[in-house]
Amino acid sequence: MPEIKILPPSLINKIAAGEVIERPSSVVKEIVENALDAGAKKIEIDIEKAGSDLIRVSDDGCGMRPEQLKLAVTQHATSKISETDDLFRIGSFGFRGEALASIAEVSQLVVRSCAEGAEHGAELRVEGGKPLSEPAPCGMRRGTTIEVRNLFFNTPVRRKFLKGALTEFGHISEAVVRLAIPNTDVHFVLRHNGRIVYDLPPSAGMRERISRAFGPEFAAKLIPIEAEGEGVRISGYIGHPDLTRSNYSCQYFFLNRRFIRDKSLQHALVQAYRGMLMVGRYPVAFLEIKMDPSQVDVNVHPTKMEVRFLESNRVYAALLSGIRNEFLRSDMRSRPASGLFGEGGEQNSPQGALDPALAEGVRQDFLEWSGPSPAGRTAPTPDANIYLRPQAAFSAGSKRESAVPEFRPFVLSDTPTPPGGPGREPFGGAFSPGPAGEPGSTPFGAEPSREETALPQDEVPRTPDGKPVVQIHNCFLVFETETGMALVDQHALHERILYEKIRTQFKETGKLDSQQMLVPEPVELSPEEAACALENQKTFRDFGIIAEPFGGNTVLVSGYPPILEKSSPADIFIEVLGILMKRGKENAEPEDLFDEILRRCACRAAVKEGDKLRGDAMRELLRQAQEEINSHHCPHGRPSILLLSVQELEKMFKRT
Ligand SMILES: Nc1ncnc2c1ncn2[C@@H]1O[C@H](COP(=O)(O)OP(=O)(O)OP(=O)(O)O)[C@@H](O)[C@H]1O
Ligand SMILES: [Mg+2]
Repeated sequence: MPEIKILPPSLINKIAAGEVIERPSSVVKEIVENALDAGAKKIEIDIEKAGSDLIRVSDDGCGMRPEQLKLAVTQHATSKISETDDLFRIGSFGFRGEALASIAEVSQLVVRSCAEGAEHGAELRVEGGKPLSEPAPCGMRRGTTIEVRNLFFNTPVRRKFLKGALTEFGHISEAVVRLAIPNTDVHFVLRHNGRIVYDLPPSAGMRERISRAFGPEFAAKLIPIEAEGEGVRISGYIGHPDLTRSNYSCQYFFLNRRFIRDKSLQHALVQAYRGMLMVGRYPVAFLEIKMDPSQVDVNVHPTKMEVRFLESNRVYAALLSGIRNEFLRSDMRSRPASGLFGEGGEQNSPQGALDPALAEGVRQDFLEWSGPSPAGRTAPTPDANIYLRPQAAFSAGSKRESAVPEFRPFVLSDTPTPPGGPGREPFGGAFSPGPAGEPGSTPFGAEPSREETALPQDEVPRTPDGKPVVQIHNCFLVFETETGMALVDQHALHERILYEKIRTQFKETGKLDSQQMLVPEPVELSPEEAACALENQKTFRDFGIIAEPFGGNTVLVSGYPPILEKSSPADIFIEVLGILMKRGKENAEPEDLFDEILRRCACRAAVKEGDKLRGDAMRELLRQAQEEINSHHCPHGRPSILLLSVQELEKMFKRT
């Protein structure tokens, strides 16, 4: 029978260290939090080789007396709490008294500190958790400097798990951003290998900080939010509906200045945007929650990133109703170009211009939706999703019909455009948006208007075999076949065609063709996203996307696969980035990863439900279907073509 033994202290400490210190960014987070707790007004962070060689943090906080230095690096030693009750009213970042000890356990650490009024400072060197000598005097100004070298030198497995330098530094800059955004009164400087990455002087508010960290264009798309519930105040910014991500990476929640991850808050945010974002897109948010520390338990996880609210419903409701009220209050027409229906044509945005009457309809919807039920906690009615299918929503006796004129998904052209568009290729043009802002250009070659396109009887859209085709509800195509009839799901079919094409190209050449863009597109990202993008430049190139560093966290997209021309290069780039970030964490098999990328790209670039197709587009779609498709299913497994034989029809009508 195995014997039970008490573990040696150094092993206990290493186990504890493993929980708190996962990678270099965890060290940065813990040391900077200590500096903030010490009341620092300037914090300088120097990193060498993404933290594996050196992490140095200097602050001008209250400092420590020499005799305190050894205690500071001892497990369960803290100046922040002293009795059990304190645990239930935590006002500081730290309280567990383990961070410095954990860092010291797995590195070579030097603490230099000088307390207020002291003649000189003191220095303590620790290696693998053991002090090398007594604290020695050193000259320095008030404050503390902590140097961490050779992280994980004595835990080689941890070191082996570290990712590339770009990814690790991405995590570090993300950690700094999470600390800098809510602590706007503190000057933060982050340097990597001697080069300044961030210099964030004290700022007037959060938006200024976000602007410096994420870029002014990104910050300009943020909507201020103020919300109040019983015992809780929420303030900050949320993104316009056209500023989205394919994951939660740009959702920053701060609880009393502490960055937290919280599923229920993420859910509230998604609910608040319901109907305004397409499936798989997530809103951007920077929200600060202020509440009495006794109402929340932060002692849930060693990294303190997860917390437990005593009354999470209140926070949920305050956030949801706060955002809804803001959407109600604000003038929807002042939204940026791609507007409420967001995402470049995906939801039929009429070239970005939002019909004022429609905006009013949306306001009415919000009013109905948030209605008398307490703080809008009830789930929205199914037709809250009308935004996704505007045509369907405003017809068939909808109660909005009287208030809102018929919705026309596409802008009418000032100058009539002949069917097929000026000089466009039937298919290329039919499925590709015209140049941005081109008058009368309509996504996917949608028909400009009935008057302009009133085709003579003999010019009805036809299949390649010459059978008439009808598009119904801008979603399905119906036509006669030799043995019966076919019903096509236009999105599923086009997605399938694109998928087959790009998969074949990828299989044959190991990459997708790339086309140089005339005007490269800068895309502003979070530090974590930027790091992932640059780390995966080669993978992007394999998918025909050329993404290069453009200063700070901005990446310049200068090439994209012409085969996916319907969607914007930036959209495809963000889509692929989202997959790489998610699957990178899961260490996905390359084959799976590549297939997911191909599937998502095909889905994004395909015509959508709700896209009105020109006759030539229908014909070309069906022609390509004949050529390309061996299966009747879209890459997601949904059928794309239903075939009904005359016999089956007769059976259904009980003729036989
Ligand atoms: N930069 C600093 N300036 C002043 N005092 C510091 C600084 N860093 C650490 N200390 C002191 O060292 C103690 C131990 O720090 P450590 O980070 O290990 O624990 P903690 O912050 O109390 O709790 P936690 O483990 O939750 O972070 C702190 O309580 C604080 O008194
Ligand atoms: Mg601490």
